[in-house]
Amino acid sequence: MTKSYSPVDYYPSSQEQVIGNIELIGQTPEAGITFSPEQSFGCMMYVLGDPVTGRHNKRHVLDMAGHVASMLLGYNHPALMSEDVSNELALAARCRFASGDFGTPFRGMLGPVFQRTVMRNYYTHSIFFTEGARAVECACKIGFYCRQDDVSLNLEKEGRWLTPQTGFHGRSVLALSLTKSYDLRKHHNMPVMDCVERVACPTIGERENPEDLRAREDEALYDIDQKMKALGERFIGFVMEPMLGEGGYQFYSARFLQELESLIRKYRGIFIIDEIQTAFACGRVFLHEAYDVTPDLVVFGKKFGMSGVLSTEQFTQNYPWHPLAKPESRVSSTWSGDPVADVRLRAMLEFLETSKVMQLSIGLGSLLRDGLERIRNSEVGRRMLSHVRGDGLLAAVDVSDAQTRSKLINACLENDLLVVGCGFRSIRFCPPITITQKEIALCLERFERAVRSLAA
Ligand SMILES: Cc1ncc(COP(=O)(O)O)c(C=O)c1O
Repeated sequence: MTKSYSPVDYYPSSQEQVIGNIELIGQTPEAGITFSPEQSFGCMMYVLGDPVTGRHNKRHVLDMAGHVASMLLGYNHPALMSEDVSNELALAARCRFASGDFGTPFRGMLGPVFQRTVMRNYYTHSIFFTEGARAVECACKIGFYCRQDDVSLNLEKEGRWLTPQTGFHGRSVLALSLTKSYDLRKHHNMPVMDCVERVACPTIGERENPEDLRAREDEALYDIDQKMKALGERFIGFVMEPMLGEGGYQFYSARFLQELESLIRKYRGIFIIDEIQTAFACGRVFLHEAYDVTPDLVVFGKKFGMSGVLSTEQFTQNYPWHPLAKPESRVSSTWSGDPVADVRLRAMLEFLETSKVMQLSIGLGSLLRDGLERIRNSEVGRRMLSHVRGDGLLAAVDVSDAQTRSKLINACLENDLLVVGCGFRSIRFCPPITITQKEIALCLERFERAVRSLAA
């Protein structure tokens, strides 16, 4: 009989070993935290050490950052632990095939459940990649080809994408050109492409009077209309997130998004929505579905465990020959996703199809926001926190400035709670959607303790 070894028996298992070994190849994990995937479960990350509480402080930490909003079902979820799925994952991991060129049974098995749960009646075609930025660029490329066919001038030099003043779409050159985030390291001093121009798109302020919001939106919509009119045939399309993710978990109103869509249609642009941060977290597959808008192309990543682009039915009707609809087209990549991601996503989608976690995430999100609001309204909270907001399991709260935010994030880690920042001065909560009521209560308890410790 062969003896089975658990990876924890032979993996480097201390903060020092893990970081030391990673440093051998000239890399440093940015947060300085190391963890053991095998010993983590649910929303509990088994941390081997971190730079805040002492480097060797091994313990379970409640992970409300969900690997920067990219974790769908949490650590070691039972849907991925069965013998069948484990064997398939191992088989798929042996070689990374050129899945864009050759059909594998792994993608073949993913197809039906992906169609049923993600594409449904709304989307006709898809393409997979690994990273979000790559998928954003692919969507822009598709939009560019299609729009070029509509107009007589050469868009290569003169075409323009419009995008909100703030947004995050990734770190490759076009994605970076579309990006403007609080974290200047991500784009400062990088060359940007001329084909991107920015327009003001108001998000909902804290306790903002609807009349005031409407007035700000009308002004912005007027300016966008003027901008699109001036661009005329040079307008390729509009790229945006359905809410600002890295930019601070700020939300647009449904009315604004609908009016914006009307303008995009009026000027015949291509409408791309980047759902990389938002998919699956708000009780729906995609957040924009809640706003009753129909983009042409939707980009996904993070919680899918891979990235990709979907074309809507409307887009395929308008451009039946678009690159995703042709077996041989100019959009592709060698791996076109990953067989391991195919198996993992299939198992996760099959689980979502038979469980109510996605619907439950709406109520759990309210519980989280109500709790944050309660802390914000407490005596210490009133001094330190403002603007609790969110949708489903994407929530955020503001502090006064970036420095206070760093201190609060560290205080959370001292209280065994992992959170990350977004925007200029926000803290976000973006856990896996399998989080439980108990874990939310624990999160609120630890967050409150961290706030109090800072106020003391
Ligand atoms: C909305 C959005 N688009 C694109 C990206 C880039 O994804 P990736 O880092 O996988 O390239 C991100 C990453 O945070 C994102 O939030």
